[in-house]
Amino acid sequence: MPKVKRNILLNPGPATTTDTVKLAQIVPDICPREKEFGEIMRFVSSELTSLVADSEHYTTVLFCGSGTAAVESILSSIMNDGLIVIINNGAYGKRMCEIAEAYGLDWVEYRSPVDQPIQLDQLQSFIQNLPRPASYLAVVHNETTTGLLNDIESIGSICKENNTTMMVDAMSSFAAIPIQMSNMNVSFLAASSNKNLQGMAGVSIVVAKKDELEKEKKPANYYLNLYAQYKHFKETGQMRFTPPVQTIYALRQAIIELKEEGVKERYERYSQSWETLIAGITKLGLHHLVAPEHHSKIITAIVEPACEAYDFESMHDYFYSNGITIYPGKLNGLNSFRVANIGDLTKEDIEHFLTLLETYFQRIGFHSAD
Ligand SMILES: Cc1ncc(COP(=O)(O)O)c(C=O)c1O
Repeated sequence: MPKVKRNILLNPGPATTTDTVKLAQIVPDICPREKEFGEIMRFVSSELTSLVADSEHYTTVLFCGSGTAAVESILSSIMNDGLIVIINNGAYGKRMCEIAEAYGLDWVEYRSPVDQPIQLDQLQSFIQNLPRPASYLAVVHNETTTGLLNDIESIGSICKENNTTMMVDAMSSFAAIPIQMSNMNVSFLAASSNKNLQGMAGVSIVVAKKDELEKEKKPANYYLNLYAQYKHFKETGQMRFTPPVQTIYALRQAIIELKEEGVKERYERYSQSWETLIAGITKLGLHHLVAPEHHSKIITAIVEPACEAYDFESMHDYFYSNGITIYPGKLNGLNSFRVANIGDLTKEDIEHFLTLLETYFQRIGFHSAD
């Protein structure tokens, strides 16, 4: 098997993948309307459902697109006939507000601090004091802006009490952090192929509760119409429009590798990398935003060092020339950069990153006492 140059991606996806996933894309050309390809699609779809739900009551609908397509599909296909509460405690919650606004949906924002857990009693009274009942609620599971892990189980209970249908953007938690849609009262979940699944970018994933999905809706969209995509797939085993053929082959391989490793074991590996990262940056005198008990252990927003010679771009370029990619921050009013620890990485890769970080800090004259 040919070896592909290995880069350490510490951005929050697309993540570092195995060579076997990369090479799974090299297949004989095939028309995706062939039965053989339909079988691969059915395998992928049913395996993805089984990661978070039972396939009798839930199903997975796939789109060609990045993760945002799944979020947009749920909001515009399902949540267009009632009031939506959108929880905004980071850039991806804010993005859901922007999508709702773009479609002219009936929505209200529930704002919560980016580095603190959601106050559940306040959320409950916000919902109960709305001028009309909330039909829907949308929340991000792991806010990739900071690594803040929202308590979707408790939010699910609040939704149940208020007869509110809940969707969760699980883009950066799916396939690592355990989710049980039925126990957590999640009706719709959005994910993508290129984060913890460790596949290639290009498949957008919606896991949906069948009885909610099958309710009749007036379509507000076309390409992203969730019901039409579901119905077509059920009848034919195909997407309505051209699928990302080679990315689906890679996704099948990524799912096989996930099952070999186990979701729990994958999260343990990620957690080990995270513990290594936190111990290392703390030793170097850096601070991160979210307390460990509310942290996803998947991505960390780190406060930039107070040092005149520090510059994110030059630090990024230094790492990039060493085969490592780090990510800029996404917080207003606080300078931060981000390090994710997902993908086909181990704590040894994080140790390597920390050694280089120490060298970079020595070069720019930053010391922990600064
Ligand atoms: C929580 C969350 N939602 C949505 C997205 C958007 O995904 P994409 O860039 O694949 O559209 C991301 C990407 O990082 C994310 O972390």
